[in-house]
Amino acid sequence: MKDIATDRIIIVGAGLGALYAALKLAPRPVVMISPEQLGAGASSAWAQGGVAAAMDEDDKPKYHAKDTVKAGAGTVDPDVARMVTKDARDYILDLTTMGAPFDRTDDGDYVLSREAAHSFARVVRVKGDQAGAEIMAALIEQVGKTPSIQVLEGTMATGLDVAQGRVRGVVIQDADTARSAPVMLRGPAILLAGGGSGGLYALTTNPPRIRGQVIGMAARAGARIADAEFVQFHPTAIDVGEDPAPLATEALRGEGAILINKHGERFMQAVHEDAELAPRDVVARAIFSETQAGNRPMLDTREVLGVRVLEQFPTVAQACARNGIDPVNEPIPVSAAAHYHMGGVDTDSDGRASLAGLWVCGEASSTGLHGANRLASNGLLEALVYARICAESIAAEVPKSDQSAPLDITFEPGGTPPDADAVADLRATMTARVGVVRNAEGLRAALRRIAALENAHGDSPSFANMCATATLIAACALQRQESRGAHERSDFPDTSEGPAERSFMYLNDAL
Ligand code: SIN
Repeated sequence: MKDIATDRIIIVGAGLGALYAALKLAPRPVVMISPEQLGAGASSAWAQGGVAAAMDEDDKPKYHAKDTVKAGAGTVDPDVARMVTKDARDYILDLTTMGAPFDRTDDGDYVLSREAAHSFARVVRVKGDQAGAEIMAALIEQVGKTPSIQVLEGTMATGLDVAQGRVRGVVIQDADTARSAPVMLRGPAILLAGGGSGGLYALTTNPPRIRGQVIGMAARAGARIADAEFVQFHPTAIDVGEDPAPLATEALRGEGAILINKHGERFMQAVHEDAELAPRDVVARAIFSETQAGNRPMLDTREVLGVRVLEQFPTVAQACARNGIDPVNEPIPVSAAAHYHMGGVDTDSDGRASLAGLWVCGEASSTGLHGANRLASNGLLEALVYARICAESIAAEVPKSDQSAPLDITFEPGGTPPDADAVADLRATMTARVGVVRNAEGLRAALRRIAALENAHGDSPSFANMCATATLIAACALQRQESRGAHERSDFPDTSEGPAERSFMYLNDAL
C-alpha cells in the first residue's frame, strides 16, 4: 500500500463539524477527506430545522439543558447538556459573522421555530427549511478563503492504522470505486467527523453515503462505542418511495401542522398530551404503528399553513412537487425513517475517543448529549460545540506547524467496493429487524444475517465498516432489555426503574 506522511491534521468528513473544526484549527494545516464535492453528501447539508439555541429573551440555556435531559429519557449526561447549551447563542453569533444568513425579523431578531419537546421556540432557522445547506455554504466559502485547509474531494476513508495503542494513519481511497486502491495517509492527529448511520436502514432521511462507515472504521480499529442501540427515527419522512426519503421538517408541526390517517383521524391526541409535538420517539412509534396497521399516516399542513407552506418550507414543497403531491390541497403521506444515530464513538469532554490520537465530533461521536432520544436541532449545535473542543484539544497536543506542502495523491486502480446486493440486504435487515420496534428473536436473526453478509462480502473494507456498526446497533439493542426513548423492545415494553445506564461496547464483545 502506498504510504504518505503529512504534518497536516487529518479530518475525515466534510459536514458541519468537519468544516467548523478545520476553520477553528487554522492556520494549522489541515487536510479534509471529503467523499464528494464540499457541501454535497453530508447529513448537515440536509438538515432542515436549524440550530437549537436559547435566543428568546425569556428562554435560558438552563431550560434548553433541562429539555435536552428530559427528552433523552434518563441517559443524557447533565453536565454535557449544560456545557453544550450554555454558549449556544455565541455559536449562532459566530456563524452569523461567518456569513450564515439566519432568518431575521424586521427588528433584526432571529426568527425562532418551535420543535417537539422544546419548552420555547428555540430553533434558529435559515430561509425557512434550508438551515443545513445555507450554514454549510457560508462555511464552505470561509474554507475556500483559508489557505491552511486542503480539501481532497472525491476521497473516502475506509480504515485506521493503530500502532502501540495510538491511531497513526487513515486508509483513504478514491471515492470513485474504479480507482480505489488504498493509500495510507499518516498524520499527527485524526479527527473523525464523517456522520452517522441512517443509511444502514432501507428507509432513511440520510444522504446515500452515510451508512455507519466512520463509526464502523473506529470500532474495527478498537475504539469503544457508546449508546449504539439508540437510533432516532424521524416521524415524518415523506413516504413516496424515494431512497433516501425526503424529510418534512418537524418545524411544520411546530407551526401547527397535524397528523391524520386515511380515515381522517387525528391520532396523536390519544397518544400524548403534546399531540404532534410529543417527543420524537413517541411520534415516530405512533406513525410506525399507523403504517403497520395500514392506516396510511399523513402530515396535514392545509389548514394551518395553506399556500404559505410553499414559501416558508421550500425544500418540503419541492419534494412534494417532485412526487406529484400538492401540500396546499392534500395531506403529505409520511412514514418513520432512520434519521440520527445518538450512539457513536465514545468521546470524552475533549472529544477524544478511547484510542490515543483519535478525536471524533458530530454524529459519528457519542458525547452523552442525546441519550436515548435527541432533542430536535441539537445535532448541529453539538457538532459545532465539539468541533471547537476537538480543534482546541488537537491544537494543544500537536506541535505547531504553520506551513505544510499541499498533498498530491494519485490513486491506482484496485480496491474492493461494497457489493450492491449485500448492501441492500443489510439495509433491509436493519429496517425489518432493528427498526422502530425490536425484539430478541428479530435482533438475533439480524446478528446472524449481518455476520453472514460480513463473511461473504467483508473483503470490501467499506462494507465491513457498515457491518461493524450494524452489529453494534443490534448487539446493544439485544443487550438492553427494556424500552427507553427511541429503543423500543416489544418483548420488554417497560422502562427499567432506577438510574439508567448508558451502553458501552467494543466490537470484539459484540461479535
Ligand atoms: C427536522 O427539521 O425535523 C429535523 C431536525 C433535527 O433532526 O434536528
